Amino acid sequence: MAEYDFDVLVIGSGPGGYVAAIRAAQLGLRTGCVESRETLGGTCLNVGCIPSKALLNASEKFYEAASGALAKHGVKLGSVELDLPAMMADKAKAVTGLTGGIEFLFKKNKVEWVKGLGTFVDAHTVQVGERKVTAKNIVIATGSSVTPLPGVEIDQKVVVDSTGAIALEKVPEHMVVIGGGVIGLELGSVWQRLGAKVTVVEFLDQLLPGMDGDVRKEAAKIFKKQGMEIKLSTKVTGVAVNSGKAIVTVEPAAGGAAETIEADAVLVSIGRRPNTDGLGLDAIGLATNQRGQIETDHSFRTKVDGVWAIGDVIPGPMLAHKAEDEGIAVAENIAGLTGIVNHDVIPSVVYTHPEIAGVGLTEEQAREKGEVKVGKFPMAGNSRAKAIDDTTGWVKVIADAKTDRVLGAWIITAPAGTMIAQVAQAMEFGATSEDIAYTCHAHPTHSEAIKEAAMGVLGKPIHV
Ligand code: FAD
Ligand code: NAI
Repeated sequence: MAEYDFDVLVIGSGPGGYVAAIRAAQLGLRTGCVESRETLGGTCLNVGCIPSKALLNASEKFYEAASGALAKHGVKLGSVELDLPAMMADKAKAVTGLTGGIEFLFKKNKVEWVKGLGTFVDAHTVQVGERKVTAKNIVIATGSSVTPLPGVEIDQKVVVDSTGAIALEKVPEHMVVIGGGVIGLELGSVWQRLGAKVTVVEFLDQLLPGMDGDVRKEAAKIFKKQGMEIKLSTKVTGVAVNSGKAIVTVEPAAGGAAETIEADAVLVSIGRRPNTDGLGLDAIGLATNQRGQIETDHSFRTKVDGVWAIGDVIPGPMLAHKAEDEGIAVAENIAGLTGIVNHDVIPSVVYTHPEIAGVGLTEEQAREKGEVKVGKFPMAGNSRAKAIDDTTGWVKVIADAKTDRVLGAWIITAPAGTMIAQVAQAMEFGATSEDIAYTCHAHPTHSEAIKEAAMGVLGKPIHV
C-alpha cells in the first residue's frame, strides 16, 4: 500500500491550483485537489476574470447600440433596451461552461476533487471535513480575497465588492468606486456603459499603480472623456447607508475639508489579500511575510519540506496567467523536472475600452536602471485603427540604449491585451527593437503599431 493517499495534493482549484493538479496528473503523479467552493476554477472562473469579461463584452455591445455609436458605421438602430437579467444569465452561462470544463478535465486526467475546506494537520496531512488526506507533496494555491476598507461594511447590496458588483440586480444611478485600480476601472466601465454615473475615488495622484507613468496619465484622460468622474489624491473616510442610499465621505488624501457624495452603489476595490486564514499554517510552522503572503524560492518550495505554494497567495502580481504558469512549474518541479517562471515578463491587461496592456519595465523603472531609448507610435497613424475609426491610444516600446534589447512595452488600444503577447514572446527570446522592427507584420493590423514603435526606437517610423 502507498505511504500517502496522493503524490500531490493541491489546496485550491483556481488557475494556479487546477493547472498544477492537471499538470501533475499528466506527469503520472497521483493527484488530488481540495476545493471548498461548489464549483472548481477559483476566483478567476467563478467571480473574477471570466464573469467580469463576459459583462465587459455585453455592456460594450449595449453601449455601442444604445449610444448611437454604430450610426457612424451606417448601422442605424431603433430603440434599444437593456435586459439585465438576460445579460447576467449570459454571464452565468460563461462561468458554468468553464467551471464545468475544469471538472471534466479533472475527470479526464484522473485528478480527484476532494470537496471541502482544507486545514493542515502536519506537513503531509490535510484535514478536509471528516477526512484526513495525506500526500507526499502539498501545494498551497488558496488565492486571495478582497481587502476590506476599515469602517466600510460590505453588504453586497449597496456597498459591494467585485463579487457583488458583477451581480447587481439593477443599474445604479450613481456608483462610487473606491480605488482606481484594475477592478474599479473594469467594473466601473461595465456599469457606466449600462447607464450609471460613475465616480472613482483614488487615494494616489494617478490611476493604475504599478503601470507606466504615461499609461496612468493617459488612462485618466480616456476615462474622464468617457464620462467618469475621477477624484485623485482623495480618500474615503466613511460610508453610511440609509434606505438603500449611501453617503460617502471623502477628503483630500493629504487631509483637508471633507465632502459627501450620495450614491446608490459603492464598489470597494482597493486591492486583494492572500488567503491563509484557517489554513493551519501554524501546524506546519510556516509563517507569512508582512503582507500576509507565503514566501517561496524560485522552484515554489516553501520553508517547509514537501510544502509548495503558488498564485495569489505568494508574492508577485495577482494575475491568473501568473498563477497558471506557476502551477505548471510547480508540478514539473515536484516531478523532478525543471519548472521555471520568468517573473520579469508577466503581461498585465486592463480589459476596458480601449484595453491597456503592458509587459516588462515601465519607462520610469527602465530609466532608473540605465540609459534607454523609447519609441512611441500613436494609433492615429495605424491604418486599421483609422479604418474602424477607433484611434485612441498608442504603443510604446522601451529598449536598452546600448544593447537595443527590449525592456518593456505599453499599449493602449482596443486589442492591446492580445497584442501584448507578441512583445512578451519577443522579450522571452531576448529580442531587440530591431528584431521587432524588421519582422513582417500583416497589414492592416493593430500590431503594425508595435512594429512602428520599435522602428521609433531606432529613429525611423514610417507613418508619423
Ligand atoms: P484563486 O483563483 O483565488 O483560487 C483559490 C481557490 O482556493 C478558491 O476557489 C478558494 O475557494 C480555494 N480555497 C482557499 N482556501 C481553501 C482551503 N483552505 N481549502 C479549500 N479550498 C480553499 N486576473 C487576470 O489575470 N485577468 C483578469 O482578467 C482578471 N480579472 C479579475 C477580475 C476580478 C473581479 C477579480 C476579483 C480578479 C481578477 N483577476 C484577473 C485575478 C485572478 O482572479 C487571480 O489572480 C487568480 O484567480 C489567482 O489564482 P489562484 O489560483 O492563485 O487563486
Ligand atoms: P488594485 O491594486 O489594482 O487597485 C487598488 C486601487 O485602490 C489602487 O489604485 C490603490 O491606490 C487604491 N486604494 C487603496 N486604498 C485606497 C483607499 N483607502 N481609498 C481610495 N483608493 C485606495 O486592486 P483591485 O483593483 O482591487 O484588484 C485586485 C487585484 O485583482 C489586482 O492585483 C489585479 O491584479 C487583479 N485583477 C486583475 C484584472 C486583470 O488582470 N484584468 C482584473 C481585475 C483584478
